Amino acid sequence: EKKKEQAKVLSQEMLADGIYSLWIETEAARTARPGQFVSVYTADASKLLPRPISICEIDKEGKKLRLVYRVTGEKTGTKQFSELKAGDTVPVIGPLGNGFPYEKAEGKKVFLMGGGIGVPPILELAKQMQCEEKQIVVGYRDAHTFLKDEFEQNGTLYISTEDGSVGTKGNVMDAIREQNLDADMIFACGPTPMLRAIKTYAEERGIECYISLEERMACGIGACLACVCKTKEKDAHSNVNNKRICKDGPVFLSTEVEL
Ligand code: FES
Repeated sequence: EKKKEQAKVLSQEMLADGIYSLWIETEAARTARPGQFVSVYTADASKLLPRPISICEIDKEGKKLRLVYRVTGEKTGTKQFSELKAGDTVPVIGPLGNGFPYEKAEGKKVFLMGGGIGVPPILELAKQMQCEEKQIVVGYRDAHTFLKDEFEQNGTLYISTEDGSVGTKGNVMDAIREQNLDADMIFACGPTPMLRAIKTYAEERGIECYISLEERMACGIGACLACVCKTKEKDAHSNVNNKRICKDGPVFLSTEVEL
C-alpha cells in the first residue's frame, strides 16, 4: 500500500479559465507512468477523502510531477489546490492506477486522444511513446487550447473546439473525419460520451484501443465506490462483473468495459 506523503509545491500557474498547472516535488515521481494519477488531500479536516488528479508530466530525476486540473467548485477541494503557492506543502498519495500500456505502440500508427480535462495525461503519454506515427487529437471548448505548444513538440497535432475557434468545429471524432485520419492503435482519455464514441469507432474497425476512465473517479483510493463500472469478464465464483476504476484502472482495454 502506498503511503501519504507531504509533497512540496514548486510552482502554480493558471493555464486557462479554471484550469491550473501545479508542479510538485514528490517521491511519487520516481515510479510514475503516463496515465497514472495521484490523490491530493485538502487541509480541511472535515474532508477526509482526497481528490484524484491525473499526471500531466513526469520528471523522474528531479522527483517532480506536473498536475493539470480543473477547479470544479468550492466543495471539491480543487479550489483550495489552486491557491497553493511555491513553498507550501500538500499531502499526496501515489502514483496510483495502472497507467497506459504505451510500450505496445511500438511500430504502430497511433491516435492519442484527449478531451476536456482528459487532455493533460495525453502529454506525458506523447512524450514517452515511441511509435511509427504519433497523431495527437485533442478537443477543447474554445480557444483556450492549454498545452498546445507542448503537444506540437511531441507529435502531429490536430485540434477540435466546440465553438470552432481553433481547428475542427466539434469534437475529436469530427477532427478525425475532417482530416481523413486513421490509426491502428488508440489511447484516449476524456469524458464518457467521447470515450463511448471512440470505443464504438475502434470496435467497428477492430482497432486495439485503451481508454482512461479517470473522470469518473472521486477519491482515487478505493474508499468512495463512486467509480464502479461494469466489465465484460465475470468473476468465476460470484458472477460479479464490477470493477473499481481507481483500483483496476483507470485505463482499460475498450472491449473490456461497458460505457
Ligand atoms: Fe473512490 Fe474509486 S474513486 S472508490
